[in-house]
Amino acid sequence: MEQYIIKGGKPLVGEVTISGYKNAALGIIAAAIMTDETVKIENVPDIRDIEILLNVIEELGAKVERVNKHTIKINGSKINTVIADSDYVRKIRGSYYLVGALLGKYREAQVALPGGCNIGSRPIDRHIKGFAALGADVKIEHGLICARADKLVGNSIYFDESSVGATINVMLAACMAEGQTIIENAAKEPHVVDVANFLNSMGANIKGAGTDVIRIKGVSKLHGSEYTIIPDQIEAGTFMFAAAASLGDVLVRNVIPKHLEAFTAKLLEVGVRVIEYDDAVRVIADKRPNSTQVKTLPYPGFLTDMQPMMTTLLTLSTGTSIVTESIFENRFKYVDELTKMGASIKVVESNTAIITGVERLTGAIVSASDLRGGAALVMAGLMAEGYTVVENVEYIERGYEDFERKMQKLGAAISKVDSKDTKAIKKFKLKVS
Ligand code: EPZ
Repeated sequence: MEQYIIKGGKPLVGEVTISGYKNAALGIIAAAIMTDETVKIENVPDIRDIEILLNVIEELGAKVERVNKHTIKINGSKINTVIADSDYVRKIRGSYYLVGALLGKYREAQVALPGGCNIGSRPIDRHIKGFAALGADVKIEHGLICARADKLVGNSIYFDESSVGATINVMLAACMAEGQTIIENAAKEPHVVDVANFLNSMGANIKGAGTDVIRIKGVSKLHGSEYTIIPDQIEAGTFMFAAAASLGDVLVRNVIPKHLEAFTAKLLEVGVRVIEYDDAVRVIADKRPNSTQVKTLPYPGFLTDMQPMMTTLLTLSTGTSIVTESIFENRFKYVDELTKMGASIKVVESNTAIITGVERLTGAIVSASDLRGGAALVMAGLMAEGYTVVENVEYIERGYEDFERKMQKLGAAISKVDSKDTKAIKKFKLKVS
């Protein structure tokens, strides 16, 4: 099993370049099969979840050309089935966007229920409600989401709570429905806007993405396009918080600072310096953070995906902090691992972490149980005295491109080794001691 071994205590210093946004890329790749013409997509992150989705669309018959590490061409003209039922589909969350894409294009989809990080029950009732409002008959049968429509007709859809996935999925189907669809209380996250912009570049007619109300006029056909995916706000946030936690000085490049405002505000509040440029942010920290209170909320609130990094940063704060998770019900699993490193955190009612700052963390063997919680454990390893081993790195590699290489470039003492490779572990320890 592969694991990261980290020697903590070194500040991160230098520049890091952020990759394309995983969660936008998942929607965009699904959308790309909705035209029979070729679509070229740039700034695609080179990570496991994306490779899996590309495998899934290849299984459907789409042609995928990997032009280079970050550029792909997709042609959906030879799709020969609307059934996506392989193990790949079940491994990731983003495969559910194929329901909207196939339903929109072929009026039928049978897609295995999605997998993804175990951070709560993650129902898909809002997606189903949206498809049904467009006239589809949707059932869950034999572990598949089966959606079929003789006619897809635009409608008004009101989500009583916002959902990124449901907003994107309904947008996909609705852009090839007859007439107008209005999504009210739509999710406003940057990746909703990016998928909408991509669909518009293919000839869709979507207005209002990024606001509460999205209006979509259906078109009968979409065409080829060339598109560049936005930078990953979560990867950027992770490096911003890691820079702060390690008392470092890092220029995080290729970002859209507006998408990072909630993170910047919290960092400033706890005493970290953040300087914004047009497409970069510089994070500088030289002392333990102040304590604070944070609640995760839909965009533009503080993103749930950054909650583990926030909690981890606050383990070394000078007072008592409260972090409340309001989006997913099971997103504090990494906390048990942090306590092995000496953090003082109590989780109450499963959604609130009370963090009493301690003076230091100490390295330990810890295990990642989801993507963002895993990245937070690496961050804790950078903050801790001595050696930390983070097991189950495959979770982290699902969503972070070249994670340990980017960290190494900033001066982190981190290496990926096989747990049985005692020689490599010894070599690392010799090198960093
Ligand atoms: C997306 O998940 C992201 N995943 C998540 O990132 C992210 O944490 C989340 O949005 C919130 O920003 C992808 O884009 C692939 P939601 P998604 O639908 O679409 C409930 C990462 O690490 N809900 O906005 O699944 C749901 O249970 C991942 O990159 C329903 O009840 O999130 C949750 O409590 C982890 N019924 C809330 O709504 C539904 O039909 C928000 O979920 C849909 C959602």
